[in-house]
Amino acid sequence: MDSPQHFLSPQPFDRAFLDNVLDRAVRMKHGADKRLLEGRSLGLLFFNRSLRTRTSFQVAMFQLGGQCVNLTSSSDFWDLEPEEGKVMDGSAPEHVKDAARVLSSYLDAIAIRTVPFGRNYDVDRRDAVIHAWAKQARVPVLNMESNVHHPCQAMADLMTLRETFGELKGLKVTLAWTANPQPQSAAPVHSLLTAGAKFGIEFTVAHPDGYDLDAGILADAKAEAERAGSTIRVVHDLTEGCRGARAVYARSWPSLECYGQPTVEAVKRSRFTSWIVDGARMRATQDGKFLHPMPVRRNVNVTDEVMDGAGSLVYQQAENRLHSQKAILATFLKS
Ligand code: CP
Repeated sequence: MDSPQHFLSPQPFDRAFLDNVLDRAVRMKHGADKRLLEGRSLGLLFFNRSLRTRTSFQVAMFQLGGQCVNLTSSSDFWDLEPEEGKVMDGSAPEHVKDAARVLSSYLDAIAIRTVPFGRNYDVDRRDAVIHAWAKQARVPVLNMESNVHHPCQAMADLMTLRETFGELKGLKVTLAWTANPQPQSAAPVHSLLTAGAKFGIEFTVAHPDGYDLDAGILADAKAEAERAGSTIRVVHDLTEGCRGARAVYARSWPSLECYGQPTVEAVKRSRFTSWIVDGARMRATQDGKFLHPMPVRRNVNVTDEVMDGAGSLVYQQAENRLHSQKAILATFLKS
């Protein structure tokens, strides 16, 4: 049997492939391909909480004539061991190898949201759990957000930017670190940067000193951007980052310098509460639109004025999760 094609990150896919998925998402948003997945079953495995991803995948499968089997770690199933060759005398009573093989015989695809261990970034960045599933499953594995990537979110983001601006090449988009009481995952930003660079988006990444994105992902995205004729710049001032942007995409992410040290990290991030997307910063843009992958903390990440303003695309962006995921399902469950 050929290995199934998985959707773990945008990285292995070229611009033409991603463009086709986006084109399909637009057609599906306008009613194409109804009931395309009649009789098909998608497993949703959640090791971490979700509001949008869980709901939009379930509704997408329902509207395409298929069904979801929704499984939440701890309440529905037990710890699963991802490491091969392990003597399984710890908390996990079952190996991913066995769970993936069995679920592959019931399901047409398996979508997974993982949770980081949160102790060592070099360990977490390997995304061992989702890669173990992809290795062992006999059906496509779709990433619903891992430690490093959130490709389904990135497809909805690109769809929203394309709907709003038409052409992505040369579009000035600022990825803005914002204040937040707890660190959030950088996965949505990593995936948008990775995918958007292939389209030639001109990204500015704005974050305080010490809040660098994953160096490997940034380097790969810069190389992709260069191939596409664009550049990625990094600045350490939010207002400067917003200046001239057509879109500001806000998100908080952890400081990798104190990853796994929540007390140290909390003290560090408390110095940056002024990193909020507000009206003044949006006025520095070029009639800029506001995006956020959500959940969003009002008046911490972004002011009510911007969130509820005419330039906010956040609800269109969230709705596009449904349409773009239908296109992802149609693409990866093709056979
Ligand atoms: N953006 C996103 O993935 O939302 P949820 O965490 O609610 O699924």
